[in-house]
Amino acid sequence: MKKYRLEFHLHTNYSYDAVITTEDLVKARDEGKFDIVCITDHDTAEGALEIKGKNLFPVIVGEEITSADGHLIGLFLKETIPPNLPAEETIARIKDQGGLVYSPHPFDFRNLGLGKKIYSLVSQVDIIEAFNGAGDFFCRNHRAKKFADDYHLPGVAGSDAHFPDEIGTCTTLVQAQCIDDIMTPKGLLSSLDDCDVDAQYHSIFKHAVEQVILSIKNRGWRVVKQGFRFK
Ligand SMILES: [Fe+2]
Repeated sequence: MKKYRLEFHLHTNYSYDAVITTEDLVKARDEGKFDIVCITDHDTAEGALEIKGKNLFPVIVGEEITSADGHLIGLFLKETIPPNLPAEETIARIKDQGGLVYSPHPFDFRNLGLGKKIYSLVSQVDIIEAFNGAGDFFCRNHRAKKFADDYHLPGVAGSDAHFPDEIGTCTTLVQAQCIDDIMTPKGLLSSLDDCDVDAQYHSIFKHAVEQVILSIKNRGWRVVKQGFRFK
């Protein structure tokens, strides 16, 4: 069996608040920061599909979808799922595509996750993000970890990287005979039966300042009025 390092939660420059390029990902992979990357841009799978099509490194196509009830990530998607649908409908669309349902930062204190809603949806969630790179203060990771343990769901780590230096800061280590064994929904889930996390939180202050500047640049001052509800 070999060990593989998964980056579960990462935004490229297809997200309005991130700058990571394909070249940044090639460099990070070559530096051993991940073996497999889930590309999870905000409300679009287009960048993930395009980068996967280049066959430069193993990519799981994902999307961080802004549902009406909080953020949800679909993994192994074939096409973009629109935002602002109820969580139930968003989950149904992920499953229709044969994908996995990943709950990012479920107890984020800015209500960017599912929050209490997760208790009614738990039977439909496949993976819980128990360690988000933004740390315990913002994401209440300790509560997410307890939730994953209580409900016997895999509790994994995701960097939530938006900038090149954040790639691979929170990763999940799994074992498999070969990488292809992990590149299917069923294979990935079974590899998570026995996994380890390697989580180092990135600098919240630096991340917040960079993200505010970039979001205002790309979306204008309305993001300020919305109270910086992005991530
Ligand atoms: Fe994210």
